Amino acid sequence: MRLVLMCLLSLAVCEGQVVTFDLSDYNPQNATTHVQKMFINLTAGVSEIWVNNVPESVGFYVVQVHSFPYNVTLSSTRKFRSKDSVEGVNVGLVSFNDNDTRFYVKSKNQTKALIVVVIYNKKDPIPGGCNLTFNTEYAPYQLVSYTEDLIIVQSQAPSAFDTTCDKNNIQVDLYHLYLHENNYAEKYYFDGIENMLTVDLIKSHGYKVSTVDGYFKYRKLYSAYRGVGQVFAIVATYHNRSSAYVPAVSYGCDLDNQDESCYGPVTPHWKVICAFLLIFGLFVNFFGHKFFRITLYLIGFVIGVFITYVILSLSSNNLTVSEKTTTAVLIGLIYGSLWLLMWWKFGIPILSVSLTFFLSGFLLASIVFYAGVADLKIFHNDINFWLTFLAIVIAFHTMFTMWTLEWHVFGCSFLGAYACVAALNYYTGGNLQYIVINSFRRMVVNNFNMATIDPPFQILDITQSILLVAMTTFGFYYQMKEQRSKPPFPPHRYTTLEEGVSETTPLIRDTTGVIYSDI
Ligand SMILES: *[C@@H]1O[C@H](CO)[C@@H](O)[C@H](O)[C@H]1NC(C)=O
Ligand SMILES: *[C@@H]1O[C@H](CO)[C@@H](O)[C@H](O)[C@H]1NC(C)=O
Ligand SMILES: *[C@@H]1O[C@H](CO)[C@@H](O)[C@H](O)[C@H]1NC(C)=O
Ligand SMILES: *[C@@H]1O[C@H](CO)[C@@H](O)[C@H](O)[C@H]1NC(C)=O
Ligand SMILES: *[C@@H]1O[C@H](CO)[C@@H](O)[C@H](O)[C@H]1NC(C)=O
Ligand SMILES: *[C@@H]1O[C@H](CO)[C@@H](O)[C@H](O)[C@H]1NC(C)=O
Ligand SMILES: *[C@@H]1O[C@H](CO)[C@@H](O)[C@H](O)[C@H]1NC(C)=O
Repeated sequence: MRLVLMCLLSLAVCEGQVVTFDLSDYNPQNATTHVQKMFINLTAGVSEIWVNNVPESVGFYVVQVHSFPYNVTLSSTRKFRSKDSVEGVNVGLVSFNDNDTRFYVKSKNQTKALIVVVIYNKKDPIPGGCNLTFNTEYAPYQLVSYTEDLIIVQSQAPSAFDTTCDKNNIQVDLYHLYLHENNYAEKYYFDGIENMLTVDLIKSHGYKVSTVDGYFKYRKLYSAYRGVGQVFAIVATYHNRSSAYVPAVSYGCDLDNQDESCYGPVTPHWKVICAFLLIFGLFVNFFGHKFFRITLYLIGFVIGVFITYVILSLSSNNLTVSEKTTTAVLIGLIYGSLWLLMWWKFGIPILSVSLTFFLSGFLLASIVFYAGVADLKIFHNDINFWLTFLAIVIAFHTMFTMWTLEWHVFGCSFLGAYACVAALNYYTGGNLQYIVINSFRRMVVNNFNMATIDPPFQILDITQSILLVAMTTFGFYYQMKEQRSKPPFPPHRYTTLEEGVSETTPLIRDTTGVIYSDI
């Protein structure tokens, strides 16, 4: 293995670098020699990869180029025809036992690259060996693309020496591995890839995800956590022999445009929403129960915004985010007023707090599914999913109703704490906001039931979970202390009127003689 700089030897034929791999010391018994790899700074232009002295015992090998951050094109001919070349940041081609094979790598920009040769036996399944959809006949690579909500990993079915593509009896297992959160350094990128190069490495580092037969088998969907890098890997197994596809990385965002694309939302709309969430969160966390009417209004408002946003997203695709948000906020204001009116008219605490209970139940159910339940196979089915979801919400709601005061205080602290944490993510990074976003996606995004949820849970997420629990506990404790020796709920207007005090009087005396703040 050595890097020969042809440019130094002969300036006349200078086209780029030549990277040489020598397989002569390959020994089928020795697993450690199955992979050869080398880092190189690819210059702009065409470079060559030479694979020399391929022993008879090699069945086939996969040549891979992983570049960062720019695309490269890998081809088995100098002409770069589309049927023998592939473009991307994680590319690879299969080659059979030919001596002295050459590959060509075209790069528009100078970029750092990891070049790998993985060697397999004749009886190992060939990754992407059934040429069904991709340009190249053997396509051991994965094509990764993303939308706002989903990461889509496409691959081609494997083949094996004594079976046909129609039978499709080769087992395919998919894995993924999260890179360091909010860190786009090339070190983490290449570390992640090196950890997913061979079958053994994939099995020890990767997390296996569920697969389904049919259309989505080779078109795997993952919930997108924008800005968090993931390595995707596939292992094909046939008669106890396995081979690995070329690992592929996606950050779910455009690295060339990191500030806008990878770090939180930067539009003014989102800034306003995050600031509102933070204030709303702090207020409700500490004073939600004390200022009962304001809280009723806020909860009605939040529910209104959410429902309207879901309906708008479901019913039309051609509204922009800001149009949807503006409409949702306006309708939310009406919802808030209506809900407040409900208290003014009936004054039944158990009725008025039911929205708080519903929202807390919704959040708790979302946490349950976020924490892994959503990835169980039975919940690919929408009916199973929503019935279970509803059952959880109702169970919590029923429990909450039994101790209305305590659970209302808890609900306020919990919802407030979550709103704070989700808004903080805008400034600090972290993924807890996806607890609600994933439930929302399940409602409105097509095929989201097929997506793997398995969220990243790294140091920031752990810190924020602790913050969520701590804030909820503290808010609950503080509000219960404030609440001591006061009536559980503010008196209703009829009581107020009987005492001969105007409805608008902000402070009234309750029976214990304690001043009750009645805003
Ligand atoms: C495996 O390869 C390593 C390094 O290439 C070598 O030191 C070792 O002796 C080999 N083992 C066998 C069983 O060939
Ligand atoms: C690539 O370039 C960087 C600096 O530009 C240098 O630190 C590094 O050693 C080079 N790597 C190789 C393999 O030449
Ligand atoms: C490839 O070359 C090596 C050494 O030159 C030789 O031992 C081997 O048999 C050759 N393999 C094939 C398939 O021609
Ligand atoms: C990089 O390659 C991918 C896959 O072919 C392609 O979708 C993308 O547009 C390319 N990016 C650039 C900047 O050329
Ligand atoms: C390549 O580099 C040049 C200048 O260094 C830059 O203008 C261009 O956008 C880069 N190309 C890509 C595909 O990023
Ligand atoms: C697959 O490759 C073989 C050989 O190159 C070719 O005959 C066949 O038509 C290809 N099938 C598809 C679906 O492209
Ligand atoms: C695969 O290996 C297991 C044990 O490792 C063995 O029981 C089984 O028979 C093997 N299957 C095949 C098809 O070789």
